[in-house]
Amino acid sequence: MTKISLTNTDYTKADKKYCRIVLTENKPTWHRLVEGVDGTLEYRMGAGKRKNLTVRAYRTLVRSIVQAAKNHQLEHIILHLGAMDFPQLEQKGSEWFYRTLAENLQLAQYEFTYYKTKKKTERGLKEILVCGELSEVEKASFSAGLIVGEATNITRDIANTSGEDMTPTKLAAAAKNALKGTKAVVKVLGQTEIKKAKMGLLEVVGKGASDKPKFIIMEWWGAGKPTATEKKAGKKRPIALIGKGITYDSGGLNVKPSGAMHEMHMDMSGGAAMIGTMRALAKLAVKKNVVAFVPAAENSISAESMRAGDIATAMNGLTVEILHTDAEGRLVLADAMTYAHTHYEPTVMIDAATLTGASLVALGQYASAVMTKDKALQDTLTELGEDSGDLVWPLPLWDEYKTSLRSTRADVSNIATNFARWGGCIEGGTFLSFFAPKKIPWAHIDIAPRMESIPSDKLAKGAAGEPVRLLVKFVEQYG
Ligand code: BES
Ligand code: MN
Ligand code: ZN
Repeated sequence: MTKISLTNTDYTKADKKYCRIVLTENKPTWHRLVEGVDGTLEYRMGAGKRKNLTVRAYRTLVRSIVQAAKNHQLEHIILHLGAMDFPQLEQKGSEWFYRTLAENLQLAQYEFTYYKTKKKTERGLKEILVCGELSEVEKASFSAGLIVGEATNITRDIANTSGEDMTPTKLAAAAKNALKGTKAVVKVLGQTEIKKAKMGLLEVVGKGASDKPKFIIMEWWGAGKPTATEKKAGKKRPIALIGKGITYDSGGLNVKPSGAMHEMHMDMSGGAAMIGTMRALAKLAVKKNVVAFVPAAENSISAESMRAGDIATAMNGLTVEILHTDAEGRLVLADAMTYAHTHYEPTVMIDAATLTGASLVALGQYASAVMTKDKALQDTLTELGEDSGDLVWPLPLWDEYKTSLRSTRADVSNIATNFARWGGCIEGGTFLSFFAPKKIPWAHIDIAPRMESIPSDKLAKGAAGEPVRLLVKFVEQYG
């Protein structure tokens, strides 16, 4: 863990142990480590022309500073970035500038060392000191950024953990642990309660595993829990967030081919993102009501596993023909969506899930796919994606796509009845739309493209922790 803090002492008067990071207008590939006669270190790095620095490039620049410090085994660095030195960032304002700075320093220092026998902490980057004379609001923005970054790193920790060590039971424990000491409330439904709630799809997906499904509910009543009369009057209704919590996806009896399975310990990335988001909201004391739901199950193989061709009844009463056991995420999400809108009457619903490989075919690895029939919600999410760094891009959710999911023997099937693979990402969203609330806006985010980082992200390999930053911003500005 790297300590990240602010100081208003002059950059040049800092203790000798700090390596000073100096940005130049050279090309971003340019860098020099300069040692002064007095033993001080200065790391000069090209950032390109200041006037050319875009919002997107700013985030990666901040991360590159940390990456460079790690590569040069620097233990203490000090940096000074004047917000208004970058004309393209000016319109974003200094609060955005400092929050983004803190978030990305925090994300970039992260490394997952849980399974390493030699931890890097001994010789790694110990401290990042940011100097400048910040106003109180700017300082608060910086602190907020640290909180959001830290919560995102917890999301990454949870997703990076192997399936064996992050079963549904352990995921529920991780949710409690992440919200310990906050005023958020965690409730966990076990097998009997899931049965009682008639969540037949969540149940059937987890049938083959020895650790049975859990349904994790996290409540944050930042605007105050509605009283009985307020509830009747429809006041203080929460935002509902739902995250796919498949703790390991073997594919089930339609087993995944080798090479496509080992990363499926990250198939609870959506659920992990909800845990991180709730932690951030609670720590930031955001004055909004939010309830997050994580249907947690392991899609495993045994004599008890669901079979291709089995028919299960969803919580909303629809019968579902499971034509493919590897299309399990949509099954658990469907019941979570019904539970959320029947028990909590939310004002809006957003789910995030590593739902389809097809989303990567459609978008590559730079953006998640967002599907909604609500144009305003689509625009808000796309804009906040750009603002936060968790990029999302829309795909259609037209009724035309529903046709292929009409089952012969049941009401709907979980994949196209002709087994066609076209538009697989939209097909996932379309399946969920059968379970979506009718009267409130709902958006589905397929985060499979952003499940893990890519080199251009300038982050540690593994789980990317998306879309925590986006969801926190969404809650902050909603309603
Ligand atoms: N968890 C996978 C999707 C996935 C694939 C996420 C790669 C991240 C990276 C999901 O449960 C799945 O297996 N989807 C199938 C759906 C198909 C059977 C219709 C897929 O994408 O192949
Ligand atoms: Mn699957
Ligand atoms: Zn899956």
